[in-house]
Amino acid sequence: MTGRFDEIYNRSIADPEGFWAEAAQEIDWIEPWDKVLDDSNKPFYRWFAGGVVNTCYNAVDRHVERGRADQAAIIYDSPITGAKRTITYAELKDEVARFGGVLQGLGVEKGDRVILYMPMVPEAAIAMLACARIGAVHSVVFGGFAPNELATRIRDADPKVIVSASCGIEPGRVIAYKPMLDEAIALADNSVHHCVILQREQQTCDLTPGRDVDWEEAVKSAKPADCVPVAATDPLYILYTSGTTGQPKGIVRDNGGHMVALKWSMKNIYDVEPGEVYWAASDVGWVVGHSYIVYAPLLHGCTTIVFEGKPVGTPDAGVFWRVISEHKVSTMFTAPTAFRAIKRDDPDATLLKQYDMSHFRTLFLAGERTDPDTLHWAEDKLGVPVIDHWWQTETGWAIGANCWGIEQLPIKAGSSSRAVPGYDVRILDTAGHEVKRGEMGAIAIRLPMPPSCLPTLWQADRRYIDSYLAEFPGYYATGDAGYMDEDGYIFIMARTDDIINVAGHRLSTGGMEEVLAHHPDVAECAVIGVADQLKGELPLGFLVLRAGAAKSADDIVQDVVGMVRKAIGPVAAFKTATVVPRLPKTRSGKILRGTMKKIADSEEYKTPATIDDPAILDEIRQALKGVGYAK
Ligand code: COA
Ligand code: AMP
Repeated sequence: MTGRFDEIYNRSIADPEGFWAEAAQEIDWIEPWDKVLDDSNKPFYRWFAGGVVNTCYNAVDRHVERGRADQAAIIYDSPITGAKRTITYAELKDEVARFGGVLQGLGVEKGDRVILYMPMVPEAAIAMLACARIGAVHSVVFGGFAPNELATRIRDADPKVIVSASCGIEPGRVIAYKPMLDEAIALADNSVHHCVILQREQQTCDLTPGRDVDWEEAVKSAKPADCVPVAATDPLYILYTSGTTGQPKGIVRDNGGHMVALKWSMKNIYDVEPGEVYWAASDVGWVVGHSYIVYAPLLHGCTTIVFEGKPVGTPDAGVFWRVISEHKVSTMFTAPTAFRAIKRDDPDATLLKQYDMSHFRTLFLAGERTDPDTLHWAEDKLGVPVIDHWWQTETGWAIGANCWGIEQLPIKAGSSSRAVPGYDVRILDTAGHEVKRGEMGAIAIRLPMPPSCLPTLWQADRRYIDSYLAEFPGYYATGDAGYMDEDGYIFIMARTDDIINVAGHRLSTGGMEEVLAHHPDVAECAVIGVADQLKGELPLGFLVLRAGAAKSADDIVQDVVGMVRKAIGPVAAFKTATVVPRLPKTRSGKILRGTMKKIADSEEYKTPATIDDPAILDEIRQALKGVGYAK
């Protein structure tokens, strides 16, 4: 007998156009689409071609028009500053329209890019929605990235305007954004016309005359902007994510398909009703923040929470429970690392006893695999279902999940459950043939992918094909490896590329190697991800020094740690490197990073038959022991 989930899933695969056309009824269209799925230019697929729409209208205005004007749209809760603020849908509409007017006043038109480099304040969401309102394309850059990373994105997106703030706040330190912004603009060396700066009372900054505009001042005199009709296939945003080199990939999201998939996911995956309070404890700089702090909850008419704090230390490991209880959160979404941090500080969850959690129904985790210990701890302490689900910046919403609003399937620890409707997930061997259930392989999605998934990379169609579609013709390669069990449950086990996952943040070890290689005393280097109890993985560098290096090994290690922090940012969490006489390689010269990782993690490994000299592995083990690994 097939259950409700199977029925819906099968229909989504057999008749994707019928399935998504029905889901699209939940969105208000200015003009209906001509074609649900335009596949006339394969392998580029476009959803809802010919449709005309506005994302901001669907996320904000229509709720004001239909009875939610006085409902909270955004609750800002900042334990790090002590600030709290509630913004109703009516107020949000007013603020977004005004800020849209500010951008238009600065010359931003439909299709122009606007970069946002913002801390977790409601103005970040307001600026994103304002761009959507006027048809501009936003590109949010995470605040933990260094000026160099911001510059790379400015160069690629070529924004007319950058929206930023005077500072961000991390535990124990205020981070001045303005000097980083100025440095990035100078490095990028292209024509950013204006910056809009939100002055925060914790630390204000000087504005650059002629270029910078004060947010508050500008909003006072701005003419509110109307919603600008855009094509469903026009880009809503670009979000840069780590690729296999230091050059990030500009993931493009369209307007129409994105709204349809996200709106559908709120009921069907998260089992949330309009009017409820939904909280994604992430950052607007990541895809989770785009989809589940801003767009999906607002499209669904929920109240969303903008949380400026950490799971621990702001002020303690009870802050998540305080926010859930105070704002009557029904559903929460965060990364497993956050729960590992809470578990470490308060193993018995004693702080939980102070709070009324009666509104809380479900916890969703993503960003990295939820280890069974953390899953069971959270289930046990919270007494609610804890659901691991798997997705990527590229898709914008879950590929694998237990679709709680459709049918509550059994939860299997270590698995992100079944492929979500719309995703035809297959496990392939290196030749592109499907493997048997239970066998490991590359995880791929048969084309076409469902709405919201990237139609291409920003101004890089060829790179889109090369990165995702070339390896397995007819499929999108996720870059993840794993297996599917007899019940169709997906187990994500590893990456097939050099991406590592540090505290739920996606980073490229290749990008870090590029930085290390710039040190004048480094002849060769490698960076691998090693297991970490709190952050899941941490980067670790190996350095082979040039003969006659000018500095001591310790000084060089210190230098490269500083260089990664300066070039990529503190978020890379690159704090350990070790000097080795040489790197283990195959006879053809490929560095054996996988074997090095196994040694570091004290896992069993086979000496690869292709290694040029097995004795090198002992040297690696010794070096790793020196920095606390390979026990
Ligand atoms: N602006 C500037 N710096 C930032 C920043 C920001 N927006 N966000 C993080 N950083 C800095 C931190 O201050 C830290 O710097 P440090 O090396 O000087 O201490 C570094 O980047 C690493 O930050 P983080 O990854 O947050 O680690 P942490 O040790 O401060 O905290 C956790 C550990 C587990 C509490 C934290 O990683 C966390 O809350 N993770 C949740 C992850 C998440 O939301 N992921 C999104 C996907 S769902
Ligand atoms: P990002 O694009 O930053 O969202 O990172 C996406 C990558 O994070 C995926 O390709 C996986 O490698 C990993 N990931 C995200 N969620 C999960 C999960 N639930 N289980 C295992 N890996 C995950």
